[in-house]
Amino acid sequence: MLESRTTPSIFTLSNLRVDKNRPEIFAVTSGKGGVGKTNISVNLALLLRRLKKNVLLVDADIHLGNVDLLLGIRPSATLAEVMSGEKTLADIIVKGPTGIDVLPASSAVLDMIDAEDQVIKRLGDAFLGFEHNYDLVIVDTGAGIGRNVTSFSLGADKVIVVVTPDPASIADAYGVIKILLQKAPELPLMLVTNMVHSEDEGENLFKKMNLMVQRFLHNKIVFGGAILRDEVIQDAVRRQTPVVLEYPNSRPANALKLMTRNLLKLPSKDASDRQSLFDGVREHRHTTIGKINDQTS
Ligand SMILES: Nc1ncnc2c1ncn2[C@@H]1O[C@H](COP(=O)(O)OP(=O)(O)O)[C@@H](O)[C@H]1O
Ligand SMILES: [Mg+2]
Repeated sequence: MLESRTTPSIFTLSNLRVDKNRPEIFAVTSGKGGVGKTNISVNLALLLRRLKKNVLLVDADIHLGNVDLLLGIRPSATLAEVMSGEKTLADIIVKGPTGIDVLPASSAVLDMIDAEDQVIKRLGDAFLGFEHNYDLVIVDTGAGIGRNVTSFSLGADKVIVVVTPDPASIADAYGVIKILLQKAPELPLMLVTNMVHSEDEGENLFKKMNLMVQRFLHNKIVFGGAILRDEVIQDAVRRQTPVVLEYPNSRPANALKLMTRNLLKLPSKDASDRQSLFDGVREHRHTTIGKINDQTS
């Protein structure tokens, strides 16, 4: 059972990098919106925090940017004010439950991608000094393959792609995986199947997608686990309290623990040349946008 496999859990099995030069960066992305990215990002951040790690959760989804809603916190200022020089990064961080830090969503996060190199460089420099405070950075990206989304994923050390059994979600998740692996064949990609009706359904969905990745992209993805469709998640969202805090022993909470453990076990790509999250974003923001449903090449 899931429960018995996950109970000793992430506390014993983490292989977090010890390199203190910069935090490890995890991105959570998807092809389609509404598949559970924010729910997964928030709970992942909280589970990693339990390892006594300093965790920064970056809300990079401005369209449905709802990390603050899910956590019941209220941002006072945004990245826009950092870019204009009115505030520092430390000023805009909001404290979340259990001591995680949240960088709230802002359209400036996306404007940044289109900003002049100088502006990005300034932000990158600001972030460089700032992110030493953290062991781990989790980026909740938007959905799709716009460069503002993919540049965050390509700038990460590991990426979680979230998919549901909905055919549109499957097609679009494949589109995202394809773009990411074409740009970065070494990027560790973990597929999490969400809102499934059984663990078997989730695992079969993974196998199906991995077969496509092997056949058409000559690469592979890793299974992060299946999260059942469960009312406790909707309930937690309504209460603005993440499920791992509100219902720590529920099946979704246990699946999220297993996912976290799988993520930590996954080896990071070698990105020793890159120093900060924004370096990665800068490097990849000129990524061309592909066609999301082209599944044959
Ligand atoms: N496993 C699940 N079971 C039931 N509802 C879920 C599950 N995962 C997510 N949801 C619901 O789906 C909605 C979208 O989730 P969210 O995390 O905001 O998606 P995204 O960030 O991908 O847009 C939320 O209202 C959430 O309550
Ligand atoms: Mg979201």
